[in-house]
Amino acid sequence: MLQTGRRCFSVLARCQPIATSSARAYSTEKAQKMEKKEIFELDGRQYTPDALYNLSPAVRRLLDRRILQETSNPLNLLKRRVVDYVHQTYRKPGNRSPLFTICESEPRVVTTYQNFDSLLTPEDHVSRRPSDTYYVNREHCLRAHTSAHQHTLMKQGLDVFLVIGDVYRRDEVDRTHYPCFHQIEGVRLYTRDELLGKKSDASENAAELFTVTRDASRIPEKQETHSLDAVKAAEIQLKQFLESLCDELFGRDADKRWVDAYFPFTHPSWELEVFYNGQWLEVLGCGIMEQKLLESAGVTDKIGWAFGIGLERIAMVLYGIPDIRLFWSKDTGFLSQFAGKQPGEDVKYKQISAHPQVIFDISFFLPDSTEFNDMTSDVYDTIRTIGGELVEQVKLTDEFENKKKAKKSQTYRIVYRSHEKALTKEEVNVIHKQIEQSLSTTYGVVLR
Ligand code: PHE
Repeated sequence: MLQTGRRCFSVLARCQPIATSSARAYSTEKAQKMEKKEIFELDGRQYTPDALYNLSPAVRRLLDRRILQETSNPLNLLKRRVVDYVHQTYRKPGNRSPLFTICESEPRVVTTYQNFDSLLTPEDHVSRRPSDTYYVNREHCLRAHTSAHQHTLMKQGLDVFLVIGDVYRRDEVDRTHYPCFHQIEGVRLYTRDELLGKKSDASENAAELFTVTRDASRIPEKQETHSLDAVKAAEIQLKQFLESLCDELFGRDADKRWVDAYFPFTHPSWELEVFYNGQWLEVLGCGIMEQKLLESAGVTDKIGWAFGIGLERIAMVLYGIPDIRLFWSKDTGFLSQFAGKQPGEDVKYKQISAHPQVIFDISFFLPDSTEFNDMTSDVYDTIRTIGGELVEQVKLTDEFENKKKAKKSQTYRIVYRSHEKALTKEEVNVIHKQIEQSLSTTYGVVLR
């Protein structure tokens, strides 16, 4: 499977011992076993671990962080960009409402049926190994891809949807691989008329979704039961959807290419690669959905396409983020670069220093009859002039006006950090004092 990259409202990911309080003290072996038995709880559901359980404490901690929901995380920014684009571009007839249903609160523990069998993953496929997948017990695992929700959502009656979320794989760990990453899955099912046009149309299109010949076999171009016309029409729709999404993200000038691929749940299948920084990057996998998967979900009169996009890959390229671990950073030097940005804005990440931050506040009364806004620009300029490269962030953290006394006051937080060395409080204090001094002599602020 390709390493390509949600929202649950209950943030429960704990291992809790089952309460075994018992009035009578059983000292039997059975009772001791009971004591040790734990339940695993995630997203408001409980599971009983067995011998297959292989979630490390580190992965449990990752489950607790919902970085896709953190508005200052670049992955959240990218997610909103994709969703906004899809909602604007694809509307229901009449244009009043978006075509795609967004599913971002699916439970992250899925059954092995959902993660593998429903998707026709062969019994001996590598992805099923406990060395590749995080198992809670024999029947449950952490979803390894958002495709794990395809079957359930189709069965619930959805025809056109995006599934967004964090997925988990026991992978190698390097600059581009991490046990948790994020994906957006897209599925679109079509009726005959939706895909090929109404028969009553002037052109009188006689094509059908399925072949009439019983003995039709699987060929590189199509599955057994599909008509070549329908598959070609769906392929065009799928590729158009993904190419224009890529244009939206990378710009029209970026080179892209389609490469044949294999997935157990699509045929034919492709990957889309984008040329970036001198190399071809695989950004998504897709294909015409296996009809057997649709049938098992109770869909008999439609055919569909599906794709899966890896969010980290794209965000690394788009925002110039050099290492996948940075998405998990709590360093405000990283997060502040994405906070408050609009999904459509161009943001380029500037490498933050590895040295620690030193944080100082500055509070003062404004000179009479000075507006808050005017003061702010002067303060930023002064801090930059004096602090130079040592200032990483400046933020207005408090502002109030005492109407009776006609006094306005502001507080700024300055984060100092050097690229060269760890700064001491003492040396930062010298600079900080200079800033205070300059503000008071140049602008007449009164330090508090
Ligand atoms: N689930 C696949 C992966 O994680 C991507 C994919 C989704 C491929 C949908 C085809 C269709 O690698």
